[in-house]
Amino acid sequence: MPGMELTHFQFDVTDGLAVVAMDKAGEPVNTIGPAIFVDFATILDRLESDDDIHAVVWTSAKKDFLVGADIGWFASLTDPGETEDMVAEARHLLDRLENLHLEHGKPVVAAIDGACLGGGLEMAMLASMRIATNSKRTQLGQPETRLGVLPAGGATQRLPGLVGIAAALDLILTGRPARPRRALKIGLVAEVVPKEVLLDVAKKRATEAIGAPLSGSASVKEFLAPSHLQSLALEQNPMGRRVLFKKAEEKMLAETKGNYPAQERALEAIRIGVEEGREAGFAAEARFFAELVITPESKALQSIFFATQMMKHFTGTAAPPRHVSKVGILGGGLMGAGIATTSTLQAGSTVRLKEVDEAGVRRGLAHVERQVTGRVKRRRLRPFEGEQATNRVTGTTDWSGFGNVDLVIEAVFEDLELKQSLLQEVEGVTGPYVVFASNTSSIPIADIARASSRPETVLGMHYFSPVEKMPLLEVIKTDDTADWAISTAVAYGKSQGKTVIVVNDGTGFYTTRIVWPYGNEAMFLLGDGASVEAVDGAMEEWGFSVGPIRLGDEVGLDVGAKIAKVMVDAFGVRMEGPQWRQQLAEDNRLGRKNRRGFYNYDDKGKRGGVDDTVYSAVGLGPRQEIPKAEIQERIALAMVNEAAFCLQEGIITSAMDGDIAAVMGLGFPPFRGGPFWWVDQVGAGTVVEKLGSLAARHGERFAAADILRDHAQSGANFR
Ligand code: NAI
Repeated sequence: MPGMELTHFQFDVTDGLAVVAMDKAGEPVNTIGPAIFVDFATILDRLESDDDIHAVVWTSAKKDFLVGADIGWFASLTDPGETEDMVAEARHLLDRLENLHLEHGKPVVAAIDGACLGGGLEMAMLASMRIATNSKRTQLGQPETRLGVLPAGGATQRLPGLVGIAAALDLILTGRPARPRRALKIGLVAEVVPKEVLLDVAKKRATEAIGAPLSGSASVKEFLAPSHLQSLALEQNPMGRRVLFKKAEEKMLAETKGNYPAQERALEAIRIGVEEGREAGFAAEARFFAELVITPESKALQSIFFATQMMKHFTGTAAPPRHVSKVGILGGGLMGAGIATTSTLQAGSTVRLKEVDEAGVRRGLAHVERQVTGRVKRRRLRPFEGEQATNRVTGTTDWSGFGNVDLVIEAVFEDLELKQSLLQEVEGVTGPYVVFASNTSSIPIADIARASSRPETVLGMHYFSPVEKMPLLEVIKTDDTADWAISTAVAYGKSQGKTVIVVNDGTGFYTTRIVWPYGNEAMFLLGDGASVEAVDGAMEEWGFSVGPIRLGDEVGLDVGAKIAKVMVDAFGVRMEGPQWRQQLAEDNRLGRKNRRGFYNYDDKGKRGGVDDTVYSAVGLGPRQEIPKAEIQERIALAMVNEAAFCLQEGIITSAMDGDIAAVMGLGFPPFRGGPFWWVDQVGAGTVVEKLGSLAARHGERFAAADILRDHAQSGANFR
């Protein structure tokens, strides 16, 4: 293009229509940041001044539209004043795109395929109209609050105008993106079309819009839908708006417990814009962004984001993985059926599910079908895809169909002998390169592998419940596990959509081992007089997704009792719990599964309030007040100390793995960044001191791991 030197964009003008395609140089995806602004300004100069250009299609040359901010750039933003200025400057540039239609009469149509997130959606919002593809990959959203900041390219001001305040609050505060169908419904896009015709339709709409009056983005039909009118009525009067903001704030605080300042600031910026006008709103947005990007909460969330990005490239070992197209699963219970579902849905594998009897097979297959049907109903899958996914899973009570599996995942009862005998049977019916993975939650893999004639193929693949939702997979290797087997398990886990860490073998591996003290210390606190509500409430307020006692009910108190023995045998006094715990089983309290635990459950298994009869049933006296901070300190430090032992013993190979696994597998507060990130923030010295005083009051179980003492002494950080 004569006179235009562009690095990150493709630019073409044909018959008065300019097609601008973002194409960030040297990167697989488009991101927004200072790097592209030079080109952006050059393009705007041209679009504004070239009288031969009458309309514009704004699109991407990559497989996504634009995935968000270049968050590597976030780290350079240390001075709030400078950041605020930079954001304001960028916004003026963005305003010019919006003004192409408003001031220059040149309509702009954004043609969107793939991810259109963060700055991508903010850019698309500047267009006169948005058209998206119906592709599964297409999603539009503002995920910034998940990184502890708010959108700084105008979304807090423009989104409410486009989709209404309620929908804007939902998109920005939850960070959850909208798929094409919902984007159309809320008026975020005007049309949804197949990918093949996206550009043609966009060009046609852009040409049609030349000289036409400015139109809203929602289609007329959607705009007149009763729900839209109702929400507008509410949003257009001050009383209604006040109610709306108050409700949104209450809902947000119930979820964030005040731990996520970005959500609060985003809500405030939207409110300022609505009440005081767009300029005040823009100014607030820039100021809040500058403040938020340097908060510890945002830094922690950014660290998790970076780590998960990095782990996408993780292969486990340098050995190439073996291809897995058919997987055999032993046990179709809670875990096995969940693993079967993810295997067919995410990995697209053929699955052979083995159970003890026909009833077990039926239960397992019914679970898969329920999950798939749910997805079809929610339109995440087309009906024929759902049918294919269900048909890929078949059941058996014998070994038929195991002759050509590539991987076997075992999820039968937590019983060493049972697992060993199944392993031997599997080896009798499968070839020498079939990986045998156990989903045991506590038994050392080497113990299971003792029964194997080819221990190099044996490892652990530890999933979390519910498997369909939980993002982590912990792969456990023994000294004998072959590299190719590890790589195969890692690659397969990734194809199931999981973030995978590889840990060394040992009782409880990493996750079970650190979740144990989380629950155990909660039991000690009950013994000391704290109420169930106080303990769970304190930890949820600290930021855990599920309080320790509720978690115990969910997992099953009988399962807990089994693991207790294993943990105490391996680690002694540090893992011992209070004696009264055994009486839970005597009182037939298994947790949610038999609707009898620390909480009450209705006939359908829905949890109610705390079952107050539990205290006397296990011989505990009346409840008394224990300060919230003490509860939080005891439980959090018990868990963090155990994480440190795991690093010290080489169970985990890096603090980063330990952080990601705790956040993704166990619901450790994301805004604290994981156990090790948190220790770095608090200071290892302070942590050791607090553990020391807890040990003096409550016993040896709080004795600090050496690695914590070393860090306290040297002042070194874990991350
Ligand atoms: P579950 O009791 O729901 O399912 C076990 C299934 O295995 C049952 O359906 C049973 O009929 C079947 N089974 C027993 N013997 C069998 C055999 N010889 N052949 C085929 N199937 C057989 O138990 P769940 O919760 O699914 O646990 C399974 C394994 O996963 C255990 O090792 C457990 O420790 C582990 N685990 C459990 C987690 C949880 O949250 N429940 C989390 C992570 C691991």
